[in-house]
Amino acid sequence: MQTDRDESLAALSWLIQAGADEAIGDVVRNRTAAPRPAPVPAQTAAARPAPRAPAPVGDGGLMSNDAALASARTLAGAATTLDELRAALAAFDGCPLKQTAMNLVFADGNPQAKVMVIGEGPGAEEDRQGLPFVGVSGQLLDRMLACIGLDRTTAYITNVLFWRPPGNRTPTASEIAACLPFVERHIELIDPDYLLFVGGISAKTLLGRSEGILKLRGRWAHYQHVGLARPIPAMASLHPAYLLRQPAQKRLAWRDLLALKAAMQSGKDPLLAT
Ligand code: URA
Repeated sequence: MQTDRDESLAALSWLIQAGADEAIGDVVRNRTAAPRPAPVPAQTAAARPAPRAPAPVGDGGLMSNDAALASARTLAGAATTLDELRAALAAFDGCPLKQTAMNLVFADGNPQAKVMVIGEGPGAEEDRQGLPFVGVSGQLLDRMLACIGLDRTTAYITNVLFWRPPGNRTPTASEIAACLPFVERHIELIDPDYLLFVGGISAKTLLGRSEGILKLRGRWAHYQHVGLARPIPAMASLHPAYLLRQPAQKRLAWRDLLALKAAMQSGKDPLLAT
C-alpha cells in the first residue's frame, strides 16, 4: 500500500517537474500520437470541402516550423477585426503550447485605448480564466498602471504568447515565432499611440533586439511593421513578476511609467518631439 502511494507520489512529482502542473481534462489523451484519420462522409470527392490550413508535416501530427509560420501568416493576415483575429488563433494549430493549455488567452482592456501593453505569456491563473495578467503579477501590473492613471478601461493588454507554456517555462524561439504574425496583426488592428513592452521576451521579440531587458528598458524605440501607417513609439520596461522578486528595481519601472505618462500627456511621439 505504502509502495503504491510512494510510486504515485514519485510519478506526480516527475510530472510537475516536467511542467505538467495542471489537470486539463478528466480523460487521458496521448497528445504525441499521430491523429486518427477523420471518418470520410459518404459524398463524392467533388462535393468535399477544401482543406482550411496547410497540411501538418513532421512526426506525430505536429507542424514543421515553416508550415506553422506560413499558416500563422495566412490566418493572421486574413483577420480584419479583433473577433476574426481571435477566431483565427482558435483555428491555428501551429503552436504546440495550445495542446497543453486550458484556454486561449487573447486580450483584456479597451481596444480603443491609446496604450497597448504587451507581456510575455499567460501563467496558471491566466490560463484558467482565459485573460491576461489576472494572477499575482497582473495585480502588480494593475497597480503600476494605476500609478499613471491607467486601468483596463484605458489600456489594452495582451501577450506575445497566447497559450501558457507548461509549468511557466521559458518559451522556445519557435513557439514565439509561431505566435508573432498574430501579435503583429494584433498591433495593427489596435493601432495604439504608444506601446509598453513588459519584460525581456516581449521587448526583444517586438524590437528585434538581442540585449537584455535591463539594457532595453527606459528608452523609447520605434516599433515598425509593414502594415502600420507610421512607427509606434514603444517603451520597454520590467516585468511585474521580476519586480515581485526584485522589489528594489521598482524605481526603474516607475521611471519608465513616468516617461510613458509624460508622452501621453504631450500627445507627441517622444522620438520626434523637439
Ligand atoms: N505574465 C505575463 O507576461 N503575462 C500574463 O498574462 C501573466 C503573467
